[in-house]
Amino acid sequence: MANAIYVLNGPNLNLLGTREPEVYGTETLDDLKQRCVRKAESLGLSVDFRQSNAEGELVDWIQEARTKASGLIVNAGAYSHTSIAMLDALLACEVPIVEVHLSNIFNREPFRHRSYISRAAKGVICGLGGQGYELAIEALASAISQAKAG
Ligand code: DQA
Repeated sequence: MANAIYVLNGPNLNLLGTREPEVYGTETLDDLKQRCVRKAESLGLSVDFRQSNAEGELVDWIQEARTKASGLIVNAGAYSHTSIAMLDALLACEVPIVEVHLSNIFNREPFRHRSYISRAAKGVICGLGGQGYELAIEALASAISQAKAG
């Protein structure tokens, strides 16, 4: 099987299900993982699904993805709006990247309207809850097969 798609989740996403359910829904992080695993399997792919509250660990995983992943999905949580370190790591990562947010960051507080990491992303999906992760996997599956057909 081809290299896995890395799905990296940032700070506070470990609290999904109980964290502000009116904003983020009631699905847990494990539910999201199961969705991603099923969607990837249906497309002949696999996922490596991780979460960390630590910015440096997320940077380390992005660096790892440079050689080990076939594509990358990132929900950087609040680091999306602050982290130049994550942006730099993503810019150095030559695999296709899709940025995902569960909520629609554009109909929330103004400080959420800018994501530093979007510059490195092929596409951005927000506001569709867990379905956004599945759509991101579909998008990466096409990008990966186009790259192979090359
Ligand atoms: C989030 C949106 C961010 O603004 C917030 O800090 C998060 C989650 C989302 O998935 O909607 O932690 O990335």
